[in-house]
Amino acid sequence: MDVFEALYTTRAMRRVSENPIPEDVLRQMVDAGIRAPSGSNRQGWKFILVTDQEIRNQLGDLYRAAWDFYVKEFYGGTSDLGASNVIDDEKAEQVIRITKSAAWLSENFHKVPAMFVVLSRNDPTGSSIFPAIWSLMLAGRAHGVGTCLTTVLGMFKPEKAFEILNIPSDKGWKIDAVVTAGYPLGKWGVAKRTPVDEVTYLNTWGNKTNWNLEEPLWNY
Ligand SMILES: Cc1cc2nc3c(=O)[nH]c(=O)nc-3n(C[C@H](O)[C@H](O)[C@H](O)COP(=O)(O)O)c2cc1C
Repeated sequence: MDVFEALYTTRAMRRVSENPIPEDVLRQMVDAGIRAPSGSNRQGWKFILVTDQEIRNQLGDLYRAAWDFYVKEFYGGTSDLGASNVIDDEKAEQVIRITKSAAWLSENFHKVPAMFVVLSRNDPTGSSIFPAIWSLMLAGRAHGVGTCLTTVLGMFKPEKAFEILNIPSDKGWKIDAVVTAGYPLGKWGVAKRTPVDEVTYLNTWGNKTNWNLEEPLWNY
């Protein structure tokens, strides 16, 4: 696959089939992931690949509890994550769509055939893990595997997750993400984003580029 196709079309693919992913695909996702850079090349990371149904059931219950907590604590339990308070209609619509999809994942987490629990330690920036996560997701895309980077479990239910996965709690590990993986039920498409010209300045703050990039530079 063309690298630009992977870059432009790797989306949050939450709705996936229950069909298992071959192990050689899963292992290449991690093998590609660990090629990513980390601060001082420290590679303070671990990846727990979970495919076992019983463990997925337990993580599924935990993920749902974490998601419900997140919605309740931060958005007062509104199912649209407060989108009705967003003035711009297009943005509100987007938030509602994402929230529906995220709620689907929280209900069906245990059915997702594979998930990577990603841990890191000894990383003062807290950011060294994300290039590896994104590379793993891009490698999944190249194999036709849809992924979704999720963080609520590690944020809100870490202790129980450590217990379920038998992670030592005294070695400085923290769960940065759980990346779900499965064959998408929907179609791949170019990720819709605020255009380049609106988020890029040339040389100094506020000096617009005038590249006139309203549309993505790669398309089907
Ligand atoms: C740091 C980070 C944390 C995220 N956490 C969650 C999460 O906990 N649950 C979830 O369903 N999606 C989560 N997402 C996925 C985002 O909602 C998704 O990437 C974003 O809406 C863009 O989706 P798109 O690429 O399909 O347009 C997270 C993404 C990032 C980058």
